[in-house]
Amino acid sequence: MANSSKTNIPKNVGIIMDGNGRWALKNSLKISQGHKHGVDIVRDIVEESLKQNIKSLTLYAFSSENWKRPKAEINAIKTLIVQAINKQVPELKEQKVRLKFFGHLNDFGKKIIDKITYAENETKCKSCKLNLNIALGYGGQQDILDVVLKISKKISSGKIDLKDINMKLINDFSSVPVDQIDLLIRTGGDKRVSNFLLYQIAYAEIHFVKKLWPDYTKQDFKRNIKKYF
Ligand code: IPE
Ligand code: IPE
Ligand code: MG
Repeated sequence: MANSSKTNIPKNVGIIMDGNGRWALKNSLKISQGHKHGVDIVRDIVEESLKQNIKSLTLYAFSSENWKRPKAEINAIKTLIVQAINKQVPELKEQKVRLKFFGHLNDFGKKIIDKITYAENETKCKSCKLNLNIALGYGGQQDILDVVLKISKKISSGKIDLKDINMKLINDFSSVPVDQIDLLIRTGGDKRVSNFLLYQIAYAEIHFVKKLWPDYTKQDFKRNIKKYF
């Protein structure tokens, strides 16, 4: 993990897409409209990631803590997830973008699980250009706890030995599809990581951007990629 030698282009980028609520407030819109605009921005960032030859883009869409939000907001987000999958999967497939979802997905219910399965199956590709990983119901601390529990079970059933535990094994047991993040961007102006990819950001360069996520553009993203140099 300590081998994070910096190259010109960050291969694995993570984004904490924050600021949808404040954007809605600023524009006198409902919070659900803020989330809707937030989803629309993802399309642009995926396009730019393809242009920049980024290998993986890992997005924080819904945290484990976000379950504490009002029910109406959570339902609006769930609807947006289904709509985004229906709308975007054909295009992603054409662009050779492979979609993966991770986190405590079962908490979202069968309808969303079925959509996720469809999206992941549809976008399987032999020579994928970009891995697009979406964190849903994800928390970094919970993920580490899950890894500890999974490894402990394997040890007590004699399937693995204590001496087999190493950093790679932790990555293998983690639900996160990427082992290491090179560049982590957080929009919305707050300077914290809010329980996102704790283990995988050990060597990440972190860029905090003042702009709210629905105002973030391809140009802003390009600037962040350039600054990484
Ligand atoms: C981030 O935007 C999106 C989610 C957490 C789903 P917020 O809804 O947190 O927006 P702010 O931070 O309140 O502006
Ligand atoms: C982080 O934003 C989570 C996502 C962007 C999905 P939050 O708005 O939930 O984080 P806090 O509460 O400000 O730390
Ligand atoms: Mg927020």
